[in-house]
This record gives sequence, C-alpha cells and structure tokens, in this order.
Amino acid sequence: MASTLKVVLLLLFSSFTISPISCYKGAQHPLDPLSPKELTLVQTIVKKSYNPSSNNSISFHYVGLDEPEKPTVLSWLSKPSTKTLPRRALVFTRVNEQTHEIIVDLSKRIIVYDEVYKGLGYPLLTADEQIAAIQLPLKYGPFIESTKRRDLNVSYVVCSTFTVGWFGGVERTKRVVKVQCFYNKGTVNLYLRPIEGIRIVVDLDKMKIVEYSDAFKIPVPKAEGTDYRFSKQHPPFGPRINGAAIMQTNGPGFEIDGHTI
Ligand SMILES: *[C@@H]1O[C@H](CO)[C@@H](O)[C@H](O)[C@H]1NC(C)=O
Ligand SMILES: *[C@@H]1O[C@H](CO)[C@@H](O)[C@H](O)[C@H]1NC(C)=O
Repeated sequence: MASTLKVVLLLLFSSFTISPISCYKGAQHPLDPLSPKELTLVQTIVKKSYNPSSNNSISFHYVGLDEPEKPTVLSWLSKPSTKTLPRRALVFTRVNEQTHEIIVDLSKRIIVYDEVYKGLGYPLLTADEQIAAIQLPLKYGPFIESTKRRDLNVSYVVCSTFTVGWFGGVERTKRVVKVQCFYNKGTVNLYLRPIEGIRIVVDLDKMKIVEYSDAFKIPVPKAEGTDYRFSKQHPPFGPRINGAAIMQTNGPGFEIDGHTI
C-alpha cells in the first residue's frame, strides 16, 4: 500500500528531543521526555478544554516536554534529589484552521497558556492528514483521466506528500502540500516510477485538491530491474554470501531501560 512518507516539515517549533541518560533512580530527570502516561494526560486535558460536544475537530501536531529553565535544572542537579520537578508540556494543535500554542501544567492538570499562533510557518504535518491527502487524486476525475491518457491502471497508482517548502519572506496563508504519484505495477520500488508532468496541490485544512495541472507526458520508467529486495538480486549483487557468524557471548554491551540506554 501507499508508503506514507512521513515528511517532516521543518518548522519553527520543531525540535529534537534529547533523551538524557538518567541515573537518578526514583526521581524523574527534568529533561526526561514525556512518558506515555503524560502524553495521554495532555491529550485528555487539551481535548476537554475544547468542549467535545461542539464539533471542533482538533488535531495534535506536536507534543513534547516544555523544558524547565537551565538554572532550575542545574539547581536540581546540584543536590542529588529524589524530588521530581513540576512537569509541563508544549503542545501545538490545529482547531478551526488555527494553530494554537499551548502549555499544559501536568502537575496541576491545567492549561497555563493557550494562544493562537499568528507568526510565519506551520506546525508539523500529521500522519492522518497525509494519508487522507494521498487518497484524493485516486478519486479525482481529472487525475483519473490523466492516468488513462498515459495507459496506466489507477489501481496501481500510489501517491505521497511533499511539502511545498517555505523559503522565508513571503507569508503563506494556506497549509498546502504537493502530492506526487507513482506507478508500482511490477515493482515494489515505486520511487523509480514517478508519474511526471502532473501537478497536484492539496489544501490540508479543506482536505481538497486546490490546484491541478497535467502539463506534459513523460514515459513512466519501466519496472524491470528496479527491485531492490535482496531475494530478487542476482550475482554479482547477491545473494551469494558464505555463512558468517557474529557472536556476543556475554550478551549485548548495553542495557535498555525505558527510554534510556
Ligand atoms: C455536530 O455534528 C453533528 C453531525 O454533523 C450534528 O448533528 C450536531 O448538531 C453538531 N453539534 C453541534 C454542537 O454543532
Ligand atoms: C486494473 O487493475 C486491477 C487490479 O489488478 C484489475 O482488477 C483491473 O481489471 C485493471 N483495470 C484495467 C482497466 O485493466
């Protein structure tokens, strides 16, 4: 099926989660990532604040630890303590086509900050909206026509989302992605069979194709010789490997404990 590219939008608020090596048994390190329980709590608190009886659809685009200030962390580290510092989560949601920046105090179980974000850039794409977007062309008349013109069977067409990019400067008012489609008949390596010449732009908030053009026809590359799977390779590229053994007689040299190694 469609391999949904989890296209990671570079965005103002995207950040890398640091998993500090925690050696403070008993207390949570202030920079520990949110636990599954905390993530669920965030979801419950935020959803409740948006009155679920109204039909506001809410989507979560980012949920992560709202890191405490550095002096707070240093002071916590200076006295070996078993006390867990109050924990807060930073959340980006979309509600009614607006981006909200929210801070949840997990200890008090309340929202302490909630503002509509009006700056440049957009929150991360969610997997759900990308999956919905890549289904759109398959039921879109002009696209079906385009596949017919290329003698392609639409049952073998799979699409993927690509962000349109943001290069600073010009303010964009819509959350849109480009959708590129591929033909995976006779191969699993669909990326080698792009259906070119077609431009599809999807508005994610309206979940609709808002721009479509079929400007030119380029032959779709043939499927033969594109399979990358080991079982399909022939010498000299494989699969003729003599047996080799890798042993760790005393087990692995590391230990995994939750999110720490
Ligand atoms: C929510 O949507 C449902 C179905 O679309 C509708 O029947 C209901 O009245 C809506 N509720 C509110 C509060 O708008
Ligand atoms: C397209 O492919 C599907 C699935 O293999 C097949 O059932 C269908 O008959 C094909 N359609 C055409 C027009 O060849």
